[in-house]
Amino acid sequence: MFFLALSAFSLLVTRCLAENSILGTFHRRSYFYVGQSYVPQGNSSIAFGQMYVEHLVPSVVSQPFPLLFIHGRGMTGTNFLNTPDGRLGWADYFLSKGYEVYIVDQPSRGRSAWQQNIDDPQVTLDTLAVESRFTAVERFNLWPQASLHTKWPGNGSVGDPIFDEFFASTMPSINSDVATSVRIKAAGPLVLDKINRPVILVTHSQSGQQGWILGDSRPSLVKAIVALEPTGPPFSNVLFPPFDNVRPFGITEIPVAYSPALNSATDLQKVVVSSNPALNFTCFKQASPPRTLTNLSKLPVLVVTSESSYHAVYDSCTVDYLKQAGVSVEHINLGDVGIHGNGHMMFLELNSLQIAETIVEKWISKISRK
Ligand SMILES: *[C@@H]1O[C@H](CO)[C@@H](O)[C@H](O)[C@H]1NC(C)=O
Ligand SMILES: *[C@@H]1O[C@H](CO)[C@@H](O)[C@H](O)[C@H]1NC(C)=O
Ligand SMILES: *[C@@H]1O[C@H](CO)[C@@H](O)[C@H](O)[C@H]1NC(C)=O
Ligand SMILES: *[C@@H]1O[C@H](CO)[C@@H](O)[C@H](O)[C@H]1NC(C)=O
Repeated sequence: MFFLALSAFSLLVTRCLAENSILGTFHRRSYFYVGQSYVPQGNSSIAFGQMYVEHLVPSVVSQPFPLLFIHGRGMTGTNFLNTPDGRLGWADYFLSKGYEVYIVDQPSRGRSAWQQNIDDPQVTLDTLAVESRFTAVERFNLWPQASLHTKWPGNGSVGDPIFDEFFASTMPSINSDVATSVRIKAAGPLVLDKINRPVILVTHSQSGQQGWILGDSRPSLVKAIVALEPTGPPFSNVLFPPFDNVRPFGITEIPVAYSPALNSATDLQKVVVSSNPALNFTCFKQASPPRTLTNLSKLPVLVVTSESSYHAVYDSCTVDYLKQAGVSVEHINLGDVGIHGNGHMMFLELNSLQIAETIVEKWISKISRK
């Protein structure tokens, strides 16, 4: 009787695990920090520049390349742990497929402390920004594709328990993208050095440019980059100010290697491809002959764009810029492959695991075998 009950129980556990259901995937969790320096304060010192890295290892690692997730502005690594309505997150999905997973909190954010007096000024995402750009975009219609949005769980607005949960997870971010880039350029390569074998970077939004910076700094330790709606387009912003004087290196605020080499960002000659004044959108490319992104052009890149996100307006401009500079990019517009109604936070939305499985994991497993 006891044995029967026991084996029925273990059968149940096995089945739940196999189905990757409510129990999730067994794994070991640890964390470490990289990049701390000591900054003198009076007769003592405080920590600065350190980055929190969470390391999740499934009981069976069957994939050759670990994944390293970097969240976007206003967010932290919680983005990938579970969804605000309590479903399993992308980390869990990839663990179930045998991937080791690393998840960071960007320096000066979340568990990577922001330090009063020595750190840069912060900016906070307010409810209007989150509703109108991410969760309830169909009510605001700030860009043409916004009305197609259907996949956020709940109504995406204040008072809805799922929105409230998500909003509670948002965090102040350093306002300056230059300062943010400088920090990741300092701490990010140290994570890659510590892991010491090639990883696949998964970036989102603001961290798009952080992926380019890391791939540029350590091309031999980055196998590939999955850029979910990376910050863009080149040299300008669209819809939301500041419009000009951003990303002077095309895709980044700080230098990345071009060939022929740049003496300064102004050496990059840009020409207008197209423009849409109603959206404050100007798409630029390099004048001919274009320079090559020397180190980045060694890495395969996947850019994923949701059907109803503001990125649907301009991600193809970013992709064309990368291609012109010699980077091998595959661009998947979810709407084109029958996945409709997603917004910018696709990995939290109702069909998050469908996107993980049929788009991201599929591409990763393809390039892992190369
Ligand atoms: C360090 O500085 C603080 C504040 O000025 C002072 O109270 C403390 O006695 C000093 N400690 C030592 C060990 O110098
Ligand atoms: C969203 O749902 C909450 C909870 O039911 C409600 O209080 C709020 O008015 C709704 N907001 C909109 C814009 O529908
Ligand atoms: C476009 O930019 C101008 C200022 O440069 C601003 O006044 C206008 O509101 C912007 N339009 C949109 C749609 O963001
Ligand atoms: C990146 O490219 C530059 C210019 O070609 C080269 O000097 C540098 O060594 C490369 N960096 C790495 C880390 O390979």
